[in-house]
Amino acid sequence: MRDFESEDGIMQFGGVSVTDLANEFGTPVYVTDEQILRHNYRKVYDAFSKFMDTDIYYACKANTNLAILRILNQEGSCVDTVSIGEILTCLRAGFSPDKIMYTGVSVGTGELESVVKTGCKINIDSEMELEKLAEILGPKTRGFPLSIRITPGVVSGYDTKVMTGGKGSKFGIPMNRVLPVYIRAQELGFSLKGIHAHTGSGGNSIDPFLDAVEVLIDIANQLEEELGIKLEFLNFGGGLGVPYKLQEEEFNVENLASSISEMILEESSIRKVCLEPGRYIVCDSTIMLTKCNDIKDAGPKKYIGTDAGFNTLIRPTLYGAYHHVVLANKFNKACTAKYDVVGPICESGDCMAYDRALPDPQVGDIVAVYNAGAYGFSMSSVYNSRPRCREVLVNNGNAELIRDSETMEDIWKHQIIPERLLK
Ligand code: LLP
Repeated sequence: MRDFESEDGIMQFGGVSVTDLANEFGTPVYVTDEQILRHNYRKVYDAFSKFMDTDIYYACKANTNLAILRILNQEGSCVDTVSIGEILTCLRAGFSPDKIMYTGVSVGTGELESVVKTGCKINIDSEMELEKLAEILGPKTRGFPLSIRITPGVVSGYDTKVMTGGKGSKFGIPMNRVLPVYIRAQELGFSLKGIHAHTGSGGNSIDPFLDAVEVLIDIANQLEEELGIKLEFLNFGGGLGVPYKLQEEEFNVENLASSISEMILEESSIRKVCLEPGRYIVCDSTIMLTKCNDIKDAGPKKYIGTDAGFNTLIRPTLYGAYHHVVLANKFNKACTAKYDVVGPICESGDCMAYDRALPDPQVGDIVAVYNAGAYGFSMSSVYNSRPRCREVLVNNGNAELIRDSETMEDIWKHQIIPERLLK
């Protein structure tokens, strides 16, 4: 896992002192280091493009901040989107429609109509979606480029809630329907460009990726030999793991790239690989800073109460996810006791970190939560009527606001008290 330097006992992030960031922008706050973000994108792109033509579709569900999208757009990334909202966000950040792939699930006709109007690429998830798309396109179906998501019967992921590729999954075309769906798509006039699968999120082994790619290659070969359909690309989805613990090793992206490219190049006639990493690109580029409000010794347990709850970062509560935490202004101080780091939400599940050895805490200390860039802000909420927090970008010693905090007015903005209740 990536760790950071300190100066005079204070954690530094992107060349800025973390306590200065907390003082200037308040807490809780998400802070992203532009250099790490760019480095992560280049690392995964370079690993694959060394072997074959590569498109990285950054899975923007992980983090849709416009400035972060803009940086990845500058790097040459494409984007994987799951909703019309994500598409519009990516267009606003400067992505051209041909760099945006839409892979929905449970897709409604209205959304699909809006997606078609944007001109972005489409990867269909179901037979009904295929029919709906042909109906919406009408005569424009002929030659419309399409890829198809299949259910490979392979799973990966750190939690059952994020495993997607297993037999019986709600995602993709089941294996026994894959050939009929390609045949139907061909009949309708689509130009069949690719095949896609996503096995799950946050897995640390490369085996499921290789197993899924093997399945995709088999289908591609069958399509070519039996139906004369020659695909241009194979997309094996996202899910590349990231170490969340200090001693955990990095996911070996070079090894993944060489193994997958070798398989594709040797066993098929496909010459382009696509992947959709979300977590790998943004996760360790961002920390979340929160202030210690309260310290409690509750008999067998000691608590550090902070100003960030699961409204700010829900992963520990929702998935039991582990995030490394430190007292950022006591970076090198010895740990003296174990604490649960909790938040202000009125639920006992509101706990960011259990049983962590930390230095003596004081009110006002800054807790830095590591690896907060993926599914951090993007899953935050206004639960308990706490407006969403700020986001800041740091780059070689400079800090810039990239999202202001919401206000109570934002929370009330769309609510209506019927006139009759005001009398
Ligand atoms: N492609 C598809 C089709 C996906 O469904 C996903 C994630 C990705 C790519 C990107 O996966 P990544 O590289 O980020 O692992 N909220 C959960 C993660 C949910 C992932 C959902 N799909 C979390 O906080 O861990």
